[in-house]
Amino acid sequence: MSTNLAKLNVLMCGTGEYTTGWTGSGASKSDKKVGVVGLTLFDLRRLGKVDQLGMVGVNGGKFPAIREHLADKIGGAYKDMDLSFDEFPKQGKVDPESYKEAIDKMSPGAAVIIFTPDSTHFPIAIYAIERGIHVLVTKPATQLLSHHNELIAASKKHNVICFVEHHKRFDPVYSDAKARAASLGEFNFFSAWMSQPKSQLETFRAWAGKDSDISYYLSSHHIDICCWILDGKAVPTRVVASAATGIATSEPYNCVPQTEDTITLLVDWQSLSSTKHKGTAVYTASWTAPLKSGVHSAQHWYYMGEKGDINVDQAHRGYDVTEDDDGKAWYNPFYMKYSPSESGHFDGQRGYGYVSIEKFIDAARSVNAKETTPAEYDATGLPTIANTVLTTAILNAGRISLDEKRAVGIKKSGETWILE
Ligand SMILES: NC(=O)c1ccc[n+]([C@@H]2O[C@H](COP(=O)([O-])OP(=O)(O)OC[C@H]3O[C@@H](n4cnc5c(N)ncnc54)[C@H](O)[C@@H]3O)[C@@H](O)[C@H]2O)c1
Repeated sequence: MSTNLAKLNVLMCGTGEYTTGWTGSGASKSDKKVGVVGLTLFDLRRLGKVDQLGMVGVNGGKFPAIREHLADKIGGAYKDMDLSFDEFPKQGKVDPESYKEAIDKMSPGAAVIIFTPDSTHFPIAIYAIERGIHVLVTKPATQLLSHHNELIAASKKHNVICFVEHHKRFDPVYSDAKARAASLGEFNFFSAWMSQPKSQLETFRAWAGKDSDISYYLSSHHIDICCWILDGKAVPTRVVASAATGIATSEPYNCVPQTEDTITLLVDWQSLSSTKHKGTAVYTASWTAPLKSGVHSAQHWYYMGEKGDINVDQAHRGYDVTEDDDGKAWYNPFYMKYSPSESGHFDGQRGYGYVSIEKFIDAARSVNAKETTPAEYDATGLPTIANTVLTTAILNAGRISLDEKRAVGIKKSGETWILE
């Protein structure tokens, strides 16, 4: 890669837990107390890849507290961090559409990184793409398969990259497992479990059960990993969903009546190389897991092929810390490493949360310099919008299956994936 690539201007959409570590109820108590996106971009600016930064939320009145939080937790922790950024809405106003003003101020070739509630991903992403802006959108990319297909078409038309921030593809264990699965023959069975403690129902109170569900929120991770492993090997054909209920809707959480606790999707997969080989996948996600289990996200999965199997426990990696007041906890510095380097600088550049954002920044700069084209990224294992369509197909089918109490088919019509 040449060294004279132009620096990228980047707008962060959403100013919450993932972007800044600051949530409506104060500093996040999860494993992302300092956030991921802001910290990574401030560090990439220090390293010369990024230039001007902006942040857009809904309530401009939050920015003084956010700036104070960043000055304390990032400025106070790492050397040489320039924490300046432009804010929207300005002057403390409240405006859920101020992303439009912020994007209108950007030039084509700039980039937007979207970490906002699931139902807002599509309107913000399409608005940016149609103005020639590169997009990195968090998972689930969209809630509807039709919207996902629109983003594929729009990013092609406007010749920009649109990636989905599926950071688990950059976890060294997961990417190694994908390579090993390739030599295990036909796919037979996949099972994934991911959960967060029920205290998250307080954190997610604003949207839990109303705007999105726990399958979109957590199973999106392992559905994407399974689709990635099976890319070119098998395709999903049918989804049946089942949900456990009663905890989220009871005291003390009192979520809206339609909120599920634990959602399971049962998916049929058809081999692309053998008509007689079919596989089954079970993806379960819960936000009513026990408190104080020592991990923020429990997460493990199992893959069985014709010639062998793979077991991954991503929550326990042989590293635990016990403190008198809090008991035992399993940390994951392979995702985000917050401890500084020997020189006092941020030191987490190898964490897969950081790598995921850096790969997007590198791709956008490379496309801007005409070294690569957006289409070239679809031919890689990167989570481009085109490469992630089956993840959205399965999640959307799962939601329909729960709502309509029926099996939902997935099939290709011409070049487009559809549900039936
Ligand atoms: N927090 C995590 O660990 C994590 C990890 C991976 C992905 N995600 C994804 O990130 C998204 C949510 O981000 P979060 O976890 O930081 O949540 P959050 O609730 O802490 O923050 C959401 C932010 O979005 C902003 N927002 C809402 N509507 C908006 C609009 N119309 N325009 C601009 N901003 C708007 C809110 O003001 C808030 O700052 C979800 O899609 C989730 O699946 C979160």
